[in-house]
Amino acid sequence: MSIHTPKIEKKVTITTLAKMKGVEPITMVTAYDALFAKLFDGEVEMILVGDSLNMSFLGKEDTLSATMDQMIYHTQAVCNGAKLPLIVLDMPFGSYTSAKVAVKNATRAYQETNAQAVKIEGGKERAYIVEALTQNSIAVLGHIGLMPQFLRSDGGYKIRGKDQADIDRLVEDAIALEKAGVFAIVIEGVKSEAAEAITHAVSVPTIGIGAGNSTDGQVLVWSDMFGFFEAFKPKFVKQYVDGAKQIREGLESYRDEVKSREFPSQEYIY
Ligand code: KIV
Repeated sequence: MSIHTPKIEKKVTITTLAKMKGVEPITMVTAYDALFAKLFDGEVEMILVGDSLNMSFLGKEDTLSATMDQMIYHTQAVCNGAKLPLIVLDMPFGSYTSAKVAVKNATRAYQETNAQAVKIEGGKERAYIVEALTQNSIAVLGHIGLMPQFLRSDGGYKIRGKDQADIDRLVEDAIALEKAGVFAIVIEGVKSEAAEAITHAVSVPTIGIGAGNSTDGQVLVWSDMFGFFEAFKPKFVKQYVDGAKQIREGLESYRDEVKSREFPSQEYIY
């Protein structure tokens, strides 16, 4: 049985999150617009404007064609809707190909939105980019394990941390990111033993997605957890609402009532 936890009443900062490690699990969801962001305000510590919007919002096959313009547009909307969570803009594929490119694009993200941080995918090979960003006063959320932007170069979505050698690589990645200055690390699609080892190896919070129950927090994509994305349901997704079914039922009632002239009835007429 789940207990209802109190709502969040104060603006969440990187300092708030640092204090939560080992004390209280961090909640994060994605959002792409002001309407849903407003619903999530005060309910979760963090909102990620994920490049997953390219799939669930734009209907593309993967995240790779998301652009900086798109991410900025959706982050502006989310920042208009939610005031309390720490909002993270997900840097799209190709927007951090070098330290210079990353700093230019992340600076634009800070100047054109109220996001408090950006997220980039990559382990120790991208630590120099994280370092360039943090040295330019841009807060960075790391992302290791299964990295959707590496889909084509990795030959598919692959669960990580299946053997000790890979667990060691992931731990090295996390340590390199921590040294480069990330304030937290998303761990996606890894065996739970690997996520546990990473969580113990670093002093910044880890946020898991498909990474078991030992991380310092969890993140889910809103359209998955609320049952709106029907193309594919990964094993790690718990559906808290059957959104698509409820919308279809609502639409069916609307259609029936319009066709039968039951709607608009007197109460909806001027
Ligand atoms: O784009 C996204 O929604 C993400 C989450 C899966 C962490 O990166």
